[in-house]
Amino acid sequence: MSNTVLMGAQWGDEGKGKIIDVLTENIDLVVRYQGGSNAGHTVEVGDKKYVLHLIPSGILRENTVNVVANGVVVNLVSIKEEIDGLVEKGINLAGRLFVGDRAHIVFPYHQMLDAAKEALCSDETKIGTTKRGIGPAYADKASRTGLRMGDLLDPIFPELLKTRAEFANKELEFLGAETFDVDALIAQFIELAEFMKPFITDAVVMINDAVEAKKSILFEGAQGTMLDIEFGTYPFVTSSSTTTGGAATGSGLAMRHIDQVVGVIKAYTTRVGEGPFPTELFDDVGAHIAKIGAEFGATTGRPRRCGWFDAVVGRYASMINGVDYWAMTKLDVLDELETLKICVAYEADGETYTSVPSNIRILEKCKPVYEEMPGWCSSTKDVTKYEDLPEAAKAYVSRLCELTNAKLGILSVGPKRSSTLRIAL
Ligand code: GDP
Ligand code: IMO
Ligand code: MG
Repeated sequence: MSNTVLMGAQWGDEGKGKIIDVLTENIDLVVRYQGGSNAGHTVEVGDKKYVLHLIPSGILRENTVNVVANGVVVNLVSIKEEIDGLVEKGINLAGRLFVGDRAHIVFPYHQMLDAAKEALCSDETKIGTTKRGIGPAYADKASRTGLRMGDLLDPIFPELLKTRAEFANKELEFLGAETFDVDALIAQFIELAEFMKPFITDAVVMINDAVEAKKSILFEGAQGTMLDIEFGTYPFVTSSSTTTGGAATGSGLAMRHIDQVVGVIKAYTTRVGEGPFPTELFDDVGAHIAKIGAEFGATTGRPRRCGWFDAVVGRYASMINGVDYWAMTKLDVLDELETLKICVAYEADGETYTSVPSNIRILEKCKPVYEEMPGWCSSTKDVTKYEDLPEAAKAYVSRLCELTNAKLGILSVGPKRSSTLRIAL
């Protein structure tokens, strides 16, 4: 038994879904601890492809129980759709899916507020959110005006929702956006509450009982370190704690029970949405990576911005999260490139930065300092042992690990379970 936190080291979409699926073979409980339906975690099992937004990726392994814990903001329309979709695909959910009673609810008005606020922003200030209502739902949580999953079980839920919904309509009106029919919303949520009731539980007790019973738990992070509300490229971030610390506050697990931290990191960098991205490529190489890596958002379908590996970001992520080992993904995407660049530092206004500057206006000006390595110009996608990789590929991966102060534990060379190389630590 051991308790593992798995988190993204860059700007999300590192391939967390795939790695979670690989690791859950021997896991009892999988816990999502932050974010909401802004996440899109892709898992390929055989010839089937699943994209999970709120339900932990462990649901695809029959041996696991899956928990959506208190740190998550739960969109009931989305989770119902996901549940229905999984049942349709023959996945048995009975006794395998639970939602914490302390988790906050995302209502349609949160999505409307998200869209209305983005619409009022200029090109410079808009965040490029997923429009899933994440910011407004976490804002309500912090303002102490949110409603939680446990409230669905309370007979006064319709009254609580009425008060909140009327207030949200005033906010929408103030923003010049369309308002909504409060009674229709209440009717919709009375039905959704009935649907969700069997899944709602005290997840804090459930998780800690599992610890007591010496079960193995995997904490599934969403988004990535650079989107963290504290440590990311603020304000171009999401609204939750995407880093290791979020696993404790988002689940009720005491930190001393965390045994291991696995960081998922791509062998290059991508970002979706707005905000600074020092190693972004605007040339044919960027287009090649986007094409070979199929870099389109799993939630919104937006094209992802692509760039070289940023070791400044990697080092920062390994430090903040306390990464025990990297699960490095998508090495195969670089197979055809003759030369690879790695960003080792930034320069702005004559200053050199070896860690990520907190000031977004400085980060926006940062130019990458690159070192170059030869590519391997051969296919890695059918390689099954690390030793069998081309020497240049091994040298590239080793250099990334050296620059980011973390060991390599898993190397992924394709989306399927079988394209996974384990490295003895
Ligand atoms: P997540 O949000 O971190 O779970 O990542 P996404 O699912 O949004 O995006 C990762 C994409 O890369 C998915 O389409 C995966 O199927 C795919 N993928 C994961 N690992 C690999 C890999 O090693 N090689 C390739 N070519 N694709 C991968
Ligand atoms: P997974 O879990 C990549 C980005 C959005 C936007 C910013 C804020 O699949 O890695 P939000 O809707 O959260 O308010 O948007 O964060 N973003 C993601 N980017 N992967 C994700 O999740 C993301 N979730 C949010 O594009 O820039
Ligand atoms: Mg994703």
